[in-house]
Amino acid sequence: MSRTILVTGGAGFIGSHYVRYLIQYHPDVEVINADALRYSANLLNLAEVADHPRYRFVNVDLADQPAVERLFQRKIDEVIHFAAESHVDRSIEGAEMFIRSNIIGTYYLLEAVKKAEVEKMVHISTDEVYGSVSTGRAKEHSPLAPSNPYSATKASSDLLCQSYVNTYGLPVVITRCTNNYGPNQHPEKLIPCLILRALENRPLPIYGDGSQERDWIHVWDHCVAIDRVRRYGKAGKVYHIGAEHTITNLEVARRICTLLGKPHSLIQHVDDRPGHDLRYSLDTSKTREELGWLPMISFDRGLKETVGWYRRQQDWWEAVRSKAYRRPMEGGEWR
Ligand SMILES: NC(=O)c1ccc[n+]([C@@H]2O[C@H](COP(=O)([O-])OP(=O)(O)OC[C@H]3O[C@@H](n4cnc5c(N)ncnc54)[C@H](O)[C@@H]3O)[C@@H](O)[C@H]2O)c1
Repeated sequence: MSRTILVTGGAGFIGSHYVRYLIQYHPDVEVINADALRYSANLLNLAEVADHPRYRFVNVDLADQPAVERLFQRKIDEVIHFAAESHVDRSIEGAEMFIRSNIIGTYYLLEAVKKAEVEKMVHISTDEVYGSVSTGRAKEHSPLAPSNPYSATKASSDLLCQSYVNTYGLPVVITRCTNNYGPNQHPEKLIPCLILRALENRPLPIYGDGSQERDWIHVWDHCVAIDRVRRYGKAGKVYHIGAEHTITNLEVARRICTLLGKPHSLIQHVDDRPGHDLRYSLDTSKTREELGWLPMISFDRGLKETVGWYRRQQDWWEAVRSKAYRRPMEGGEWR
């Protein structure tokens, strides 16, 4: 019998990969993609499933409670919750949308799940909730210490989810993942931003001295892990997802220049982001042991393929760019 999975934020970067994953690998699953189509959404990412009989798109703002309740008028078996405002720089410029989407949106979703008979909800969160991890790796029980409005709203939504598990027995599982990269990522994010600027021989902006360390995971590996958590993860638990391979932002920029045959002199150091976390790192051993998951795509291979993808997909990023130009907070600048 077919199962219905509600994916929120399925028109964004990771959500669209996961929607396509579900349609491709789970023939017994029907997908409802609920997305408010904010600036980072892109229906081009879903072109190959748009007319699929097991896929349906619904334009819904999760901060609109009646609209969220209407989603649950039909039977929903599982919920995978990606929808969020996701860009730290934008949250520093103004946090209100982050509070509305990430906290209030999650609250309305939890309320709807509480009333419905949902078997499992997976809340997609981030390593950024731990703040900067100076040494070692954050564990699932490490204290939450978010440093910027984005991570504060994600930590808040994590706590809301945990409170609904404890108080109402909701079957919610939380994943916290490190930085994702891969095809279809909005060009405001570090890796596509650097690739596109290098392709156009424009300066590659690097915050501060570029010594910030991130653990990059390919979006495909993240989707496989989410699917394991959806199927086998235990309610109330937190699962870490990451490649356990950290690299500095400066080194990422250098590798992109090398892959594209561009001079490293294109790299330009700019004023650091306020409250910039120096290092993120997760201990992912529990996820690996309990769920039998391992990342399969090395950063070298994944970055090479991603650079190739952006090089070939000029139509895609030109379409995104023309939409991004309309954002007043970008000051008309292509960042
Ligand atoms: N990108 C990363 O490196 C990364 C790492 C760890 C965790 N995450 C988490 O994964 C999730 C997806 O991230 P992403 O990079 O794909 O983000 P994204 O910005 O590309 O996509 C977010 C999607 O959510 C939708 N959305 C935003 N507010 C909404 C609302 N109120 N109602 C309905 N839809 C709404 C947007 O329209 C967009 O399609 C987020 O929760 C993010 O915190 C991202």
